[in-house]
Formats: sequence, C-alpha cells, structure tokens
Amino acid sequence: MEDLSPRPGDLEPIETASRDEIAALQLERLRWSLRHAYDNSPFYRQRFDSHGVHPDDLKTLADLARFPFTQKSDLRDTYPFGMFAVPQDRLVRLHASSGTTGKPTVVGYTRRDIDTWAHLVARSMRASGARAGDIVHVAYGYGLFTGGLGAHYGAEKLGCTVVPVSGGMTERQVTLITDFRPRVIMVTPSYMLSILDAFHQAGLDPRDSSLAVGIFGAEPWTNAMRREIEEAFDMHAVDIYGLSEVMGPGVANECVETKDGLHLWEDHFYPEIIDPATGDPVPDGEIGELVFTTLTKEGLPIIRYRTRDLTRLLPGTARSMRRMEKITGRSDDMIILRGVNLFPTQIEEQILKCAGLAPHFQIELTRDGRMDAMMVHCEATPATAGDDARAASARELAHHVKSVIGVSARITVHPPGGAPRSEGKARRVVDNRPRGD
Ligand code: DLL
Repeated sequence: MEDLSPRPGDLEPIETASRDEIAALQLERLRWSLRHAYDNSPFYRQRFDSHGVHPDDLKTLADLARFPFTQKSDLRDTYPFGMFAVPQDRLVRLHASSGTTGKPTVVGYTRRDIDTWAHLVARSMRASGARAGDIVHVAYGYGLFTGGLGAHYGAEKLGCTVVPVSGGMTERQVTLITDFRPRVIMVTPSYMLSILDAFHQAGLDPRDSSLAVGIFGAEPWTNAMRREIEEAFDMHAVDIYGLSEVMGPGVANECVETKDGLHLWEDHFYPEIIDPATGDPVPDGEIGELVFTTLTKEGLPIIRYRTRDLTRLLPGTARSMRRMEKITGRSDDMIILRGVNLFPTQIEEQILKCAGLAPHFQIELTRDGRMDAMMVHCEATPATAGDDARAASARELAHHVKSVIGVSARITVHPPGGAPRSEGKARRVVDNRPRGD
C-alpha cells in the first residue's frame, strides 16, 4: 500500500500546535459556547439556573465538570426545535437521527456551522490520505442521516470530485467504482463488506480496483475488520467518528500514517470521559463514556452531551490533539449474558479468527427457560460451505467465544449469503427475548 504520510505544509497549524496553545483556545471558545447557550437557548438557561451554575463560573477547563449533562432525551423532550440557539431563519440545514424508539432527534446548522463541518470533514479526509483532485465515492446514505451530505461537503471542500451514490443498489456501486475509478470510498464498514461480496459475484478481483483509501465509520468496527478489508481491497482502511447531536461525521478521525486511534478535533469539541454510573470525570487513559461540549457551534450548541459511546482518551501521536481509542461499543448495545458483559465487536474479532467464516454476522438474544441465551448467526465462505466444514467452523467459533469472552454461545453457520447484509449501519443485535419480565 502507498505511503500516505502528510507532506510538509499539508497540515493546519492547529494540528501541530502545543498542548498549551490548544488548551488556551479551548478555554476561550468554551467561555463563548457556554455564554451563547445560556443567552440564546431557553433550555440551557433554565438548565444552568436550576443547577446553580452560570457561564461566568468557568475559570478553567476543569470547571466544566460543574455544568449539567445533556442527553438524547433532552432533544426528544424539546422536539423538534426547542434546543436551538438561533432563530429558525438563520438555520440553513436540518438533519435528524431516527433512533430505534420514539421521536427522532433534530439538529440544525447555521451557514457557519456547515462551513466548520465541511472544514473538519476535509481535515479528516486529509488525515485519511485523501487529496485534492481525488475522485471520492460516497456510499453513506444521503438524507436526514448526516453521513452522506457530511462526507459530500467535506470532499468538495478538500477539492475532490464527489460521486454522490448514497447507499443501496450494491451491484451498481461496483459498476460505478469500476468505471469511474475513485481513489477514495466513504461508507460504513459493514456496507463495504456487501460491496466486497458484489465484486466477487461480478467475477472481479477487488484488489485490482482503483480504491486506495476507505474512510469507514458510523458504527463500531475492529482492527481485525480493518485487516480483512485492507487485505481484500489492497487499500488503507481508516476510522471516522461523529454523531449528529455534536455535528455529524468528522468529530474525530484516524491518521493513515499511524492508524492508532482517532484524533479528536479538539479545537471544535471538548471531550471528557466520565464514569457512566456516577457521572464523575475519569482521568485520560481510563475507559468510560465519552462526553462532548461543542466549542464553536451556533445553531445547536451542545453542552456535556452524553454519547453512550465507550472509549478512553490517549495522548496525541501523529497530531498534537488527543486521540480516542477505537470504540468498543455503545452502552446501549452492551449484552449482559449470565453476568458477563460483552459487545458485538468482541464477537466480530472471534469470527474473523475463523478461516471458514465470512465477516458478516448478527447476534440474536433469546430466552431459554429463565436464562438468556445468545445465538450468533454467521456464514460460511464459498470454499467452506459443505455441512461438515460449517459444523467445524461453528465448533471453532464456539470455542473461541467461550475461551476468550467467557460465555457459551450457540452458533449457526449459514450457507454463503445466509447472514443479513447491511446497506448502512449494520444491525448487530436482535433481541427476541420475551418482554415484560
Ligand atoms: O453515524 C455520523 C457518522 C456518519 C459518523 C458517517 C461517521 C461516518 P449518528 O447517526 O448520529 O451519526 O450516530 C452516531 O454512531 O454515537 C456511535 O455510537 C456510532 N458511531 C459513529 N461513528 C463511529 C465509529 C453518525 N467510527 C453514533 N466507530 C455514535 C464506532 C461510531 N461507532
């Protein structure tokens, strides 16, 4: 694979600034953001008042811990526009995330917010190894989801030629990649696997494709999956993170030259890690729930937003801004099975160890009498599709899951094509346990 390390002059000054410079900028911007939220969003004014805090109480970055958290339920309770801090006619865009239950959460952007977002996606793409002049195939969904349009505006800002394909029609994705010869693809990692299948079905070798860089996010994925995709396409696979409540894609991104976790764009977002049970901040290096405060956002400033994503903060490497470790999972997706906590990413790692298994999977939770049970649905590769080979793969996976994670799982190895496919964010867990007890 190509060496895509940045060349002299590629980086913005803030990407190599000292920690002191970054902290000074954060303090100045944090003061502005708290004041803006308090003065212009009745929601925040009431929240701060009832908590007995005022923007003037922030003297140091650590004082942020005195301010109240914001949660997804706050956005739902004030649906649709109740948390916005500018009049509606200053908003140039709305996005929304559907979630699994209840009303969607709606987010709004001013012209400046859209510019900042495009700038940060462009920065993320450059960190991934994309350059001006590249053709970029965007297969994140376009629409209310922030993936498609977020990637699109960032790619244009970087000076790329964008192919706005959106998700779905997988065979056509392969045709367009073959004909237009993009150097960069932006898509969820699970949908990239569906595209990989479609390459094979079309009789094409994905390693011969023009793709050199994949910028994958919107869902958890493991380093084992990175190796799988990099090997299959002979390309760099880099992680992009974000969430609509905070902005959209481009809150943090890996650097292609190190691939050692995601650099957080700390000049626009202030990260904290808290103990999810107590809400207390924990030191860098310790795992907990990621919390963000926006530093420059006008339309919807968000103060101490609890993401439910679990990770830890690490010092900068390829950039001076801190990194977050690849996300293990969301606290909402944690499975508690007979007292053991586990995440779908742990199952993904074990599946990718088994040579007879394709990387597609879904976990089904059921109830066996009074005990919860976990069924892992996965599938054989074409070369290992026979009954005996599938039974052997099932035994191998059950053994890895038991010995590494410590739980007994039932494994079903379906024939090739038998596990559910993703066209966007994969649905990793289906809960079929009876409700109400
Ligand atoms: O998924 C934004 C996005 C689009 C990010 C495209 C990257 C690429 P939401 O739909 O609001 O926004 O979902 C946000 O998705 O809280 C995480 O749980 C999860 N997530 C996003 N990126 C990653 C990632 C977009 N790289 C939620 N790794 C977040 C793990 C991720 N989880």
